[in-house]
Amino acid sequence: MSQPQPMDGTATFNQMAADYDALIGGATRALCQHVLTLMNAIKPIDTSSVVLDNACGTCVVTAEILSETPDVRLHAVDVAPNMVQLAKAKFGDRDNVRLAVMPGEQLDFPDDTFTHSVTNLGILFFEAPDKGAREIYRTLQPGGVAAVTSWARLGNFEDAINPAQRAARPNEPVLHKLPIKPEWFDAEHAGRVMREAGFQDVRVSTKQVRYGAATRESLVSVIVRSGRQTFLKDYTEEELKVYEAALDQAMETKGARYTMPDGNQGWGVTMDGIVVVCCK
Ligand SMILES: C[S@@+](CC[C@H](N)C(=O)[O-])C[C@H]1O[C@@H](n2cnc3c(N)ncnc32)[C@H](O)[C@@H]1O
Repeated sequence: MSQPQPMDGTATFNQMAADYDALIGGATRALCQHVLTLMNAIKPIDTSSVVLDNACGTCVVTAEILSETPDVRLHAVDVAPNMVQLAKAKFGDRDNVRLAVMPGEQLDFPDDTFTHSVTNLGILFFEAPDKGAREIYRTLQPGGVAAVTSWARLGNFEDAINPAQRAARPNEPVLHKLPIKPEWFDAEHAGRVMREAGFQDVRVSTKQVRYGAATRESLVSVIVRSGRQTFLKDYTEEELKVYEAALDQAMETKGARYTMPDGNQGWGVTMDGIVVVCCK
Protein backbone atom coordinates (compact mmCIF):
# COMPACT_ATOMS: atom_id res chain seq x y z
CA MET A 1 0.00 0.00 0.00
CA SER A 2 1.64 3.29 -1.02
CA GLN A 3 1.48 6.08 1.50
CA PRO A 4 0.68 9.69 0.62
CA GLN A 5 3.62 12.00 1.17
CA PRO A 6 3.40 15.58 2.41
CA MET A 7 4.26 17.98 -0.43
CA ASP A 8 6.01 21.32 -0.47
CA GLY A 9 3.90 24.49 -0.49
CA THR A 10 4.08 25.40 -4.17
CA ALA A 11 3.31 21.85 -5.39
CA THR A 12 0.40 21.53 -2.97
CA PHE A 13 -1.22 24.79 -3.96
CA ASN A 14 -0.55 24.39 -7.68
CA GLN A 15 -2.31 21.03 -7.52
CA MET A 16 -5.31 22.19 -5.50
CA ALA A 17 -5.73 25.54 -7.32
CA ALA A 18 -8.79 24.58 -9.39
CA ASP A 19 -10.65 23.26 -6.34
CA TYR A 20 -9.18 25.76 -3.89
CA ASP A 21 -12.23 27.97 -3.33
CA ALA A 22 -14.50 25.00 -2.58
CA LEU A 23 -11.86 23.07 -0.65
CA ILE A 24 -10.95 25.87 1.71
CA GLY A 25 -14.56 25.91 2.87
CA GLY A 26 -14.81 29.69 3.24
CA ALA A 27 -12.41 29.56 6.19
CA THR A 28 -9.75 31.88 4.76
CA ARG A 29 -12.45 34.34 3.73
CA ALA A 30 -13.97 34.35 7.21
CA LEU A 31 -10.56 35.02 8.78
CA CYS A 32 -9.83 37.70 6.17
CA GLN A 33 -13.08 39.53 6.95
CA HIS A 34 -12.05 39.68 10.61
CA VAL A 35 -8.52 40.85 9.73
CA LEU A 36 -9.83 43.64 7.49
CA THR A 37 -12.11 44.82 10.31
CA LEU A 38 -9.09 45.04 12.63
CA MET A 39 -6.93 46.82 10.02
CA ASN A 40 -9.68 49.27 9.08
CA ALA A 41 -10.08 50.24 12.74
CA ILE A 42 -6.41 51.32 12.75
CA LYS A 43 -6.14 52.78 9.24
CA PRO A 44 -9.17 52.58 6.96
CA ILE A 45 -8.64 51.28 3.43
CA ASP A 46 -9.85 53.97 1.02
CA THR A 47 -9.30 55.04 -2.58
CA SER A 48 -5.90 56.55 -1.70
CA SER A 49 -4.63 53.23 -0.28
CA VAL A 50 -2.11 50.95 -1.99
CA VAL A 51 -2.67 47.37 -0.84
CA LEU A 52 -0.64 44.17 -1.11
CA ASP A 53 -2.51 40.85 -1.18
CA ASN A 54 0.54 38.68 -0.48
CA ALA A 55 0.37 34.89 -1.10
CA CYS A 56 -2.97 35.78 -2.67
CA GLY A 57 -4.07 32.31 -3.83
CA THR A 58 -7.27 32.85 -5.82
CA CYS A 59 -7.53 36.42 -4.43
CA VAL A 60 -9.93 35.93 -1.53
CA VAL A 61 -8.47 39.04 0.17
CA THR A 62 -8.52 41.11 -3.03
CA ALA A 63 -12.20 40.23 -3.58
CA GLU A 64 -13.14 41.26 -0.04
CA ILE A 65 -11.33 44.59 -0.31
CA LEU A 66 -12.77 45.37 -3.76
CA SER A 67 -16.28 44.64 -2.52
CA GLU A 68 -15.90 47.57 -0.08
CA THR A 69 -13.53 49.84 -2.04
CA PRO A 70 -13.75 49.01 -5.77
CA ASP A 71 -11.25 51.71 -6.86
CA VAL A 72 -8.43 50.94 -4.43
CA ARG A 73 -5.00 50.17 -5.95
CA LEU A 74 -4.12 46.54 -5.30
CA HIS A 75 -1.19 44.22 -6.02
CA ALA A 76 -1.86 40.50 -5.63
CA VAL A 77 1.08 38.07 -5.77
CA ASP A 78 1.61 34.36 -5.17
CA VAL A 79 4.39 31.84 -5.78
CA ALA A 80 2.03 29.26 -7.39
CA PRO A 81 1.46 30.02 -11.10
CA ASN A 82 -1.86 28.11 -11.18
CA MET A 83 -3.25 30.28 -8.38
CA VAL A 84 -2.24 33.50 -10.17
CA GLN A 85 -3.76 32.23 -13.41
CA LEU A 86 -7.11 31.66 -11.67
CA ALA A 87 -6.87 35.06 -10.01
CA LYS A 88 -6.16 36.65 -13.41
CA ALA A 89 -9.35 35.12 -14.79
CA LYS A 90 -11.26 36.91 -12.00
CA PHE A 91 -9.50 40.26 -11.79
CA GLY A 92 -7.04 40.44 -14.71
CA ASP A 93 -9.06 43.00 -16.65
CA ARG A 94 -9.20 45.60 -13.88
CA ASP A 95 -6.83 48.58 -14.22
CA ASN A 96 -6.46 48.95 -10.45
CA VAL A 97 -5.46 45.31 -9.79
CA ARG A 98 -1.99 44.01 -10.72
CA LEU A 99 -1.28 40.28 -10.47
CA ALA A 100 2.08 38.52 -10.57
CA VAL A 101 3.79 35.24 -9.78
CA MET A 102 6.16 36.24 -6.98
CA PRO A 103 7.60 34.57 -3.88
CA GLY A 104 6.83 36.33 -0.61
CA GLU A 105 10.51 36.03 0.29
CA GLN A 106 11.46 38.33 -2.60
CA LEU A 107 8.83 40.97 -3.21
CA ASP A 108 9.60 42.89 -6.37
CA PHE A 109 8.41 46.26 -4.99
CA PRO A 110 10.38 49.30 -3.76
CA ASP A 111 10.71 50.09 -0.05
CA ASP A 112 7.69 51.82 1.55
CA THR A 113 5.24 50.97 -1.26
CA PHE A 114 2.10 49.83 0.56
CA THR A 115 -0.29 51.48 3.01
CA HIS A 116 -1.79 48.05 3.82
CA SER A 117 -0.25 44.59 3.46
CA VAL A 118 -2.22 41.39 4.04
CA THR A 119 -0.67 37.91 4.09
CA ASN A 120 -3.71 35.78 4.87
CA LEU A 121 -2.77 32.18 5.65
CA GLY A 122 0.34 32.44 3.50
CA ILE A 123 3.43 32.96 5.67
CA LEU A 124 2.95 29.61 7.43
CA PHE A 125 3.67 27.94 4.07
CA PHE A 126 6.72 30.07 3.15
CA GLU A 127 10.06 28.28 2.79
CA ALA A 128 11.73 31.20 4.57
CA PRO A 129 9.06 32.94 6.70
CA ASP A 130 11.62 35.24 8.40
CA LYS A 131 12.68 36.56 5.02
CA GLY A 132 9.02 36.95 4.02
CA ALA A 133 8.32 38.94 7.20
CA ARG A 134 11.27 41.26 6.48
CA GLU A 135 9.90 41.82 2.97
CA ILE A 136 6.49 42.72 4.42
CA TYR A 137 8.19 45.24 6.73
CA ARG A 138 10.42 46.67 3.98
CA THR A 139 7.61 47.22 1.48
CA LEU A 140 5.18 48.78 3.99
CA GLN A 141 5.07 52.59 4.28
CA PRO A 142 5.83 54.15 7.66
CA GLY A 143 2.38 54.65 9.19
CA GLY A 144 1.13 51.61 7.29
CA VAL A 145 -0.51 48.50 8.70
CA ALA A 146 0.25 44.87 7.91
CA ALA A 147 -1.45 41.63 8.96
CA VAL A 148 -0.35 38.03 8.79
CA THR A 149 -2.46 35.05 9.84
CA SER A 150 -1.93 31.39 10.63
CA TRP A 151 -3.92 28.48 12.06
CA ALA A 152 -3.78 27.43 15.71
CA ARG A 153 -6.03 24.44 15.04
CA LEU A 154 -7.17 22.85 11.78
CA GLY A 155 -10.62 21.55 12.69
CA ASN A 156 -11.25 20.26 9.17
CA PHE A 157 -8.37 17.78 9.53
CA GLU A 158 -8.55 17.07 13.27
CA ASP A 159 -12.32 16.69 13.48
CA ALA A 160 -13.17 15.16 10.13
CA ILE A 161 -10.56 14.33 7.47
CA ASN A 162 -8.07 12.53 9.72
CA PRO A 163 -10.69 10.45 11.61
CA ALA A 164 -12.16 9.43 8.24
CA GLN A 165 -8.74 8.20 7.09
CA ARG A 166 -8.31 6.29 10.36
CA ALA A 167 -11.69 4.62 9.82
CA ALA A 168 -10.86 3.57 6.27
CA ARG A 169 -7.24 2.59 6.91
CA PRO A 170 -6.78 1.98 10.64
CA ASN A 171 -3.20 0.78 10.24
CA GLU A 172 -1.95 3.69 8.18
CA PRO A 173 -0.43 6.76 9.88
CA VAL A 174 -2.39 9.91 9.14
CA LEU A 175 -0.25 11.48 6.47
CA HIS A 176 -2.59 13.80 4.69
CA LYS A 177 -1.18 16.95 6.20
CA LEU A 178 -0.70 20.46 4.98
CA PRO A 179 3.00 21.44 4.75
CA ILE A 180 2.94 23.63 7.88
CA LYS A 181 5.84 23.67 10.35
CA PRO A 182 4.63 23.01 13.95
CA GLU A 183 5.74 26.41 15.28
CA TRP A 184 3.19 28.16 13.05
CA PHE A 185 0.36 26.75 15.19
CA ASP A 186 1.72 28.93 18.02
CA ALA A 187 0.41 32.51 18.16
CA GLU A 188 3.47 33.77 20.06
CA HIS A 189 5.77 32.45 17.36
CA ALA A 190 3.87 34.39 14.69
CA GLY A 191 4.16 37.58 16.74
CA ARG A 192 7.88 37.00 17.38
CA VAL A 193 8.64 36.59 13.67
CA MET A 194 6.98 39.94 12.93
CA ARG A 195 8.84 41.68 15.78
CA GLU A 196 12.16 40.26 14.59
CA ALA A 197 11.36 41.56 11.10
CA GLY A 198 11.37 45.11 12.48
CA PHE A 199 7.81 45.80 13.70
CA GLN A 200 7.55 47.32 17.18
CA ASP A 201 3.75 47.59 17.39
CA VAL A 202 2.63 43.94 17.05
CA ARG A 203 -0.87 42.86 18.17
CA VAL A 204 -1.47 39.11 18.43
CA SER A 205 -4.96 37.66 18.80
CA THR A 206 -6.97 34.57 17.91
CA LYS A 207 -10.24 34.14 16.07
CA GLN A 208 -12.46 31.11 15.62
CA VAL A 209 -14.04 30.68 12.19
CA ARG A 210 -15.71 27.77 10.43
CA TYR A 211 -14.75 25.52 7.56
CA GLY A 212 -17.95 24.64 5.78
CA ALA A 213 -20.31 24.68 2.82
CA ALA A 214 -23.99 25.23 2.10
CA THR A 215 -24.76 21.67 3.15
CA ARG A 216 -22.89 18.89 4.94
CA GLU A 217 -23.32 16.70 1.86
CA SER A 218 -21.70 19.23 -0.48
CA LEU A 219 -18.75 19.64 1.89
CA VAL A 220 -18.17 15.88 2.06
CA SER A 221 -18.48 15.53 -1.69
CA VAL A 222 -15.90 18.24 -2.53
CA ILE A 223 -13.34 16.71 -0.13
CA VAL A 224 -13.87 13.25 -1.60
CA ARG A 225 -13.86 14.47 -5.22
CA SER A 226 -10.62 16.38 -4.77
CA GLY A 227 -9.04 13.64 -2.65
CA ARG A 228 -9.68 11.07 -5.38
CA GLN A 229 -7.03 12.80 -7.49
CA THR A 230 -4.50 12.81 -4.65
CA PHE A 231 -4.51 11.12 -1.26
CA LEU A 232 -7.47 8.82 -1.97
CA LYS A 233 -6.08 7.77 -5.34
CA ASP A 234 -5.19 4.21 -4.41
CA TYR A 235 -8.17 3.56 -2.12
CA THR A 236 -10.34 0.58 -3.06
CA GLU A 237 -14.06 1.25 -3.65
CA GLU A 238 -14.74 -0.39 -0.27
CA GLU A 239 -12.23 1.86 1.53
CA LEU A 240 -13.70 4.90 -0.22
CA LYS A 241 -17.18 3.99 1.01
CA VAL A 242 -15.91 3.70 4.61
CA TYR A 243 -13.99 6.98 4.24
CA GLU A 244 -16.99 8.87 2.89
CA ALA A 245 -19.37 7.51 5.55
CA ALA A 246 -16.89 8.35 8.34
CA LEU A 247 -16.33 11.84 6.93
CA ASP A 248 -20.06 12.46 6.81
CA GLN A 249 -20.50 11.15 10.36
CA ALA A 250 -17.64 13.33 11.67
CA MET A 251 -19.02 16.39 9.94
CA GLU A 252 -22.38 15.72 11.57
CA THR A 253 -21.11 15.19 15.12
CA LYS A 254 -18.41 17.89 15.12
CA GLY A 255 -20.12 20.37 12.80
CA ALA A 256 -22.90 22.89 13.33
CA ARG A 257 -25.09 25.27 11.39
CA TYR A 258 -23.58 28.74 10.97
CA THR A 259 -23.70 31.87 8.85
CA MET A 260 -21.14 31.63 6.04
CA PRO A 261 -18.98 34.63 4.99
CA ASP A 262 -21.40 35.29 2.10
CA GLY A 263 -24.27 35.64 4.60
CA ASN A 264 -25.99 32.36 3.65
CA GLN A 265 -26.63 29.50 6.05
CA GLY A 266 -24.14 26.63 5.98
CA TRP A 267 -22.75 23.70 7.92
CA GLY A 268 -19.17 23.59 9.17
CA VAL A 269 -16.52 22.60 11.71
CA THR A 270 -14.47 25.10 13.70
CA MET A 271 -10.98 26.34 12.80
CA ASP A 272 -8.90 28.47 15.18
CA GLY A 273 -7.05 31.29 13.49
CA ILE A 274 -4.04 33.34 14.64
CA VAL A 275 -4.07 37.02 13.67
CA VAL A 276 -1.06 39.33 13.91
CA VAL A 277 -1.65 42.99 13.09
CA CYS A 278 1.49 45.16 12.89
CA CYS A 279 1.94 48.92 12.51
CA LYS A 280 5.11 50.47 11.06
C1 LIG B 1 -3.95 28.77 2.20
S1 LIG B 1 -3.51 29.64 0.76
C2 LIG B 1 -4.09 31.27 1.17
C3 LIG B 1 -4.49 32.03 -0.05
C4 LIG B 1 -5.21 33.35 0.20
N1 LIG B 1 -4.35 34.32 0.83
C5 LIG B 1 -6.49 33.18 0.99
O1 LIG B 1 -6.69 33.91 1.96
O2 LIG B 1 -7.31 32.34 0.61
C6 LIG B 1 -1.77 29.80 0.85
C7 LIG B 1 -1.15 30.44 -0.37
O3 LIG B 1 0.24 30.71 -0.08
C8 LIG B 1 0.95 30.55 -1.29
N2 LIG B 1 2.39 30.43 -0.97
C9 LIG B 1 3.02 29.39 -0.39
N3 LIG B 1 4.34 29.67 -0.28
C10 LIG B 1 4.52 30.92 -0.78
C11 LIG B 1 5.66 31.76 -0.94
N4 LIG B 1 6.86 31.38 -0.54
N5 LIG B 1 5.48 32.97 -1.52
C12 LIG B 1 4.24 33.37 -1.93
N6 LIG B 1 3.14 32.61 -1.82
C13 LIG B 1 3.27 31.39 -1.24
C14 LIG B 1 0.33 29.34 -1.90
O4 LIG B 1 0.63 29.19 -3.27
C15 LIG B 1 -1.15 29.58 -1.62
O5 LIG B 1 -1.78 30.24 -2.67
